[in-house]
Amino acid sequence: MAAWLDGRKVCVVLPLVGLLLFCIYNVMLKEPKTKYKKIEFANYDDLLFDLDVDINNSTQMWYWSTSQGGAGTKKSNKSLLQRRLPNVIIIGVRKGGTRALLEFLKIHPKIKACTAEVHFFDNKKNYQLGLDWYRQQMPESSPGKITIEKTPAYFVTDEAPERVYKMSRTIKLLVIVRDPTERAISDYVQVWLKKRGKLPPFERFITKGKEEKVLRTSISTVQIGVYVEHLRKWLKYFPISQLHFVSMEELTTNPAKELRAVEKFLNIEPFIKEEHFYINQTKRFPCFSGYVDGKKKRNSGCLSESKGRPHPIVRDDIRNLLQDYYRPYNQELYKEVQRDFHWP
Ligand code: A3P
Repeated sequence: MAAWLDGRKVCVVLPLVGLLLFCIYNVMLKEPKTKYKKIEFANYDDLLFDLDVDINNSTQMWYWSTSQGGAGTKKSNKSLLQRRLPNVIIIGVRKGGTRALLEFLKIHPKIKACTAEVHFFDNKKNYQLGLDWYRQQMPESSPGKITIEKTPAYFVTDEAPERVYKMSRTIKLLVIVRDPTERAISDYVQVWLKKRGKLPPFERFITKGKEEKVLRTSISTVQIGVYVEHLRKWLKYFPISQLHFVSMEELTTNPAKELRAVEKFLNIEPFIKEEHFYINQTKRFPCFSGYVDGKKKRNSGCLSESKGRPHPIVRDDIRNLLQDYYRPYNQELYKEVQRDFHWP
């Protein structure tokens, strides 16, 4: 043995043994990560402790009992800051006032929101990156806070309801809606600006043929406004009690009242009040005064220039065409959500 382990061989064998031990150690350390990746698209409600903050009984129990420190381990709130999957998603609707809703909800101290749209459930490339990637897009939050993101494209994406369901069966979904005729005009303005004005006038864009009497019902500008049909795709996966519809018309005229209903739906204490808003005299939209309990908050002021743009004057016959088309769908929506939005 002594003869076998001469000086030269020791020099070769010892580093090899060291390398082997290093590899084994690393594999063992990385094992939980590998496991996590494997369960990525299983139903996360059962698996991820920090997904399922029960907003209805917002307590910290779920965290203490599952954190690495074990039951009863107390840590300062700062060290509990982490990125968590959302408990609430604003899923739509495009040009329905989704930015205003998100910014106003951020006034509430319990809400932690993503600033940018994440486009996880509607975008194949992003979706393939997995839930771990999605979680990384979320803001850091402490236990008991509500993490929220908004991507209006989810509402009209066929795959989105099932994908969201696979992540969480208990997630709460917010949809802000507005008169679909106004929404279509707002959508057109957005596309018109994107295309630098290279788009026919609204009347021609929205209709077929020279007569301008038949709607192009297949284009997304019109289709998105058939809210009830999109809603029905979500109702295959979620009960209506997990969805809350916000009226943009109400949010702009009486923001505190409309947000109170959202606070109630999320089961968080009432916090947002009339005094948090003032009306911008130019655009006639509410803006956040910025003062909460006498202190100025960062997200104060009005929304950016791209919100509340001027709309073209639309001919009455075209407006009627859109309104007649949407009316029966609107009535069905009112029945589904048990709320009359009073659209023409
Ligand atoms: P317009 O710019 O066409 O008026 P979204 O955020 O989903 O893209 O919706 C944009 C729409 O939000 C705007 O459409 C505007 O009408 C509406 N909106 C609602 N509340 C607003 C607010 N407080 N400030 C600005 N725009 C608001």
